Amino acid sequence: MIENCYYHAKHLPLLDKIYVDEAYNADYYHYDIDESLANSRKLKIPESLHSITSFTKSQFCQDLATHFNVSITDEVSFGPFKSIKASYIKILPYHGVDWHTDASRDCAINILLSDVDNRCVTLFRNKDTNKNVRVQENWSLDYELYRPVLLNTRIEHMVANYSSKDRYILTIGLPKHIKFDMAKNFLENYVPSEQL
Ligand SMILES: [Fe+2]
Repeated sequence: MIENCYYHAKHLPLLDKIYVDEAYNADYYHYDIDESLANSRKLKIPESLHSITSFTKSQFCQDLATHFNVSITDEVSFGPFKSIKASYIKILPYHGVDWHTDASRDCAINILLSDVDNRCVTLFRNKDTNKNVRVQENWSLDYELYRPVLLNTRIEHMVANYSSKDRYILTIGLPKHIKFDMAKNFLENYVPSEQL
């Protein structure tokens, strides 16, 4: 397995359920709001849908921002993240996001908000040696519901929702200059003052 695809922050508390309700009731938009960008990626249907979250005001996000001396933003923009950006992501039934690396960020803290009956997969692969090989040779990320996981989004990954239900996550994207090991170190040493 590739070192450091992801890190389960098992010592952190579960996410407050108010964010689960917020995610389920939010209005979602297609991130590729630039039509030419969508066309260039040959998107016929949205791969994933996004919505703003009040989690940007949480103590956890504030502590992240203070630790790395960066700001937090709700703005939708393209290019490398300069601030912490949190959003909900919804993937529709029988939809997914194909193999990619995130251009805008090097790592993200994801929290699964919906149980999709073990019919949603998140996989990583080594692009150099693992292209077009059997799915068993990829590395599967098993989320724990409501518990944060740090993902190394520089490593190729994909998501597929084979369920008949929407799949929701809260994603906290970190500025591009913050690398996986830096974020992992923060999480390992983080002592939350309360429920996330
Ligand atoms: Fe991604």
